[in-house]
Amino acid sequence: MLTYTGIENPLAVGAYSIERNSVVLQRYRYLHESLFRMAAGQLPNRENWDLRLGICRHIYEDAEAAQALRKRIPELRTSSNLLGREPDPRLTLMMEELVHAESDLEWAVAVYEVIRPAMLEAYREHQRFTQQIVDQPTIRLLKHAIADLEEQVAWGAELIADLRSYQDTGAEAAFAHHIRGLLESAGGVSGGGERSPEMPRRLRSHVAYAIPLRSRRDSRRMGGTTWARTGMDNLADDAVLRRLVMMMRVRQEEMTACDLIAGVIYSQQHMPWDFYYDLARHIWDEARHAMFGQAALEADGYDWIGRPQYTSDYDVNAEKIPAAQYAWLSIGIEEGAMITQAKKKEYEFCRNEAKHPLMEQFQDYDWADEIVHANLGRKWSPELMGEELVFVREVAKKELEHFWAEVSKAQRERTQ
Ligand SMILES: [Fe+2]
Ligand SMILES: [Fe+2]
Repeated sequence: MLTYTGIENPLAVGAYSIERNSVVLQRYRYLHESLFRMAAGQLPNRENWDLRLGICRHIYEDAEAAQALRKRIPELRTSSNLLGREPDPRLTLMMEELVHAESDLEWAVAVYEVIRPAMLEAYREHQRFTQQIVDQPTIRLLKHAIADLEEQVAWGAELIADLRSYQDTGAEAAFAHHIRGLLESAGGVSGGGERSPEMPRRLRSHVAYAIPLRSRRDSRRMGGTTWARTGMDNLADDAVLRRLVMMMRVRQEEMTACDLIAGVIYSQQHMPWDFYYDLARHIWDEARHAMFGQAALEADGYDWIGRPQYTSDYDVNAEKIPAAQYAWLSIGIEEGAMITQAKKKEYEFCRNEAKHPLMEQFQDYDWADEIVHANLGRKWSPELMGEELVFVREVAKKELEHFWAEVSKAQRERTQ
């Protein structure tokens, strides 16, 4: 359509006043931000590899959706001071209960069969019934959120079928029913649905959810967890090949960095929104790095999934405060890799010595991502710690010493 720049149905009165729109968008924002935080809390406890990767991707996509909503809401005569508010205690209860999911299936069914499909339906309705000219900026942001939600829900259905094929089933139905009941009691995603004055009950969140001290991996499909690097077995006696394959495995095992960042996101409360937004990207980058390794190993026919899985980044640091955990990763490891040029050297090794085009490309982008992460460390670690960067670097140095001592001990025990 040529007229109205292609906006269809421009003459119809829309269903959303400014006031109503602001209320509804606040609910959407809250749902994305809470899903993201609860997913972070769940990650160290989740087992299935694909679910773990999906959680990291969807944390990033939820953060992007929330970011767009945070820009739009103040345009609707709404103070930006209200952006951190919880819009509905029943939605809050739903999220507090959600984080207590006790299995991969409970989490997957509640998120991908209940909450995200309801969000998708609400956004489609909003897109359709809002006045098409006045609310075009909302329509545009919802278009992106809808595209992500469609992919998430379709992927979630495949995931759930896979989980049901080998994990214990049964308990997830009651949990999904509980979560659905909470959402319905809140009048659904937009709050416009039928509501009952009977308030829902709290079943699991009487006690605070505690993230675990040891991260989990899927013992039915993967080797056990380990604090020592195990690479791949039975490689030819070729130093270049051995270094290359170890590099692939180290990338694949960056999942443990995802767990660490997830723990920081969940445990560190009351930071500015930009902190969580940046860490959502950070966690997704580390999950992408894990897939770099997975893809390189699979391209060359290595069975990585049956190998023991390195979980030190999370496990060794788990008892530390989030500020020390993030300083360990972003300053100790990531800024450290810039100082030693380790990332540049890995890239050059893959290009010049291993002559492995896929790993060359992965390391090229890995290096670029790590520059971003070192900058995130310099931006946020001092704020988390309440100290100058110079002091944070001293903290990171101590935490690295502690970490390497633990990992070397595990390595010695493994080779004895
Ligand atoms: Fe990484
Ligand atoms: Fe990184």
